[in-house]
Amino acid sequence: MKEISSKDFSVFFGDDVFEDMAQKIIENEYSKVFVLVDENTEHDCYPILKNYLVNVIVIRIESGEQNKTLKTVEYIWKQLQDNFADRKALFINLGGGVISDLGGFCAATYKRGIDFINVPTTLLAMVDASIGGKQGFDIDSHKNMVGVFAHPKNIYMYPKFLETLPLNEKKCGVAELSKHALIKNKSLWEEMLGKSILDDKSINELIQKSAKIKIKIVKKDPLEKGLRKILNFGHSIGHAIETWSLKNDTNPLKHGEAVAIGMLCEAYISHKLLGLTNEELHQIVAFVEKNYTYYDSQWDEKELIVFMHNDKKNLNGKFNLTLLKKIGKAKIDMDCSSELISESLSFYQNLKHNFPTQHSA
Ligand SMILES: NC(=O)c1ccc[n+]([C@@H]2O[C@H](COP(=O)([O-])OP(=O)(O)OC[C@H]3O[C@@H](n4cnc5c(N)ncnc54)[C@H](O)[C@@H]3O)[C@@H](O)[C@H]2O)c1
Ligand SMILES: [Zn+2]
Repeated sequence: MKEISSKDFSVFFGDDVFEDMAQKIIENEYSKVFVLVDENTEHDCYPILKNYLVNVIVIRIESGEQNKTLKTVEYIWKQLQDNFADRKALFINLGGGVISDLGGFCAATYKRGIDFINVPTTLLAMVDASIGGKQGFDIDSHKNMVGVFAHPKNIYMYPKFLETLPLNEKKCGVAELSKHALIKNKSLWEEMLGKSILDDKSINELIQKSAKIKIKIVKKDPLEKGLRKILNFGHSIGHAIETWSLKNDTNPLKHGEAVAIGMLCEAYISHKLLGLTNEELHQIVAFVEKNYTYYDSQWDEKELIVFMHNDKKNLNGKFNLTLLKKIGKAKIDMDCSSELISESLSFYQNLKHNFPTQHSA
């Protein structure tokens, strides 16, 4: 087992992490243990986790971003109340980012906060969502509009959970993984370009490197006053596209897929405003083309820009984008014109024929 410590919590990684988790649960003398799952993590992951738990109550919600809502939050709070969760109860988030965002929020607010731990089961949650203490939910498909900062006690990453994760979900994790490399670590980016990322051995190493980047950033700026904003690269345009897709498509884009498009567009803006070189831009373009399907949406650009104005990252009507000066170096709080955002969206659309396949919306 590998341990990566931070100030407020530790991340444990390996095939034997649950022995340590079970030991800590016993030491803390929790009154009850609640495990939040969706139908997939209940089926594929809970049978392993349950061997390490006693006195446990499972709360199941339906999978999908569409359920990251106040209604689900209320359902979870009610399950805690109906099952007499007291302030010594422990809450375990067993799932991807939707589970840890929702469950972390519920635990951090129920009776003014009970202990919770994250057991991420998607690549995206291992490299990103389970770390950093941000949790919350969407309002009317607008991303993460309500939330709190609160850290889990610990995070347990059991890489074998990735064996049942579908390929398209793994690729969502690759988006956040590449984001960490692009904003902070050029050699990690080059490593990602040079190898088959999703091989078992590569992925285990990449998860740990990527998680370390996020932990380091969050440690320096836990409340996102400055530095932490670099993690938002790809997420201003990405979140607007995700919201559009959630509102308009029967098979909406996943978060990681929308972020991949957002990174491509924001790399284009970085090229125009900050001198990201043509070669660097085209490395990013080629990476997105290789790993993702093309999203052929008839999106309304004006509406996307309205969604961006509504983004919680913005202040005083400015966009506050995170852009790249070069690969491995990001710059926060960058404003740009609506015209340049439109231009970046057209840049993406003009690449349509370079993608091998299309997303069926
Ligand atoms: N809080 C943060 O810092 C942060 C950071 C990044 C992303 N996020 C949020 O994370 C969410 C996306 O997370 P995600 O991509 O993990 O999505 P997700 O939680 O929806 O999981 C994706 C799908 O995989 C299934 N699944 C999960 N683990 C599985 C397994 N081991 N085997 C088989 N199926 C499995 C789930 O049931 C779901 O259908 C978004 O809401 C995003 O906003 C939060
Ligand atoms: Zn993200």
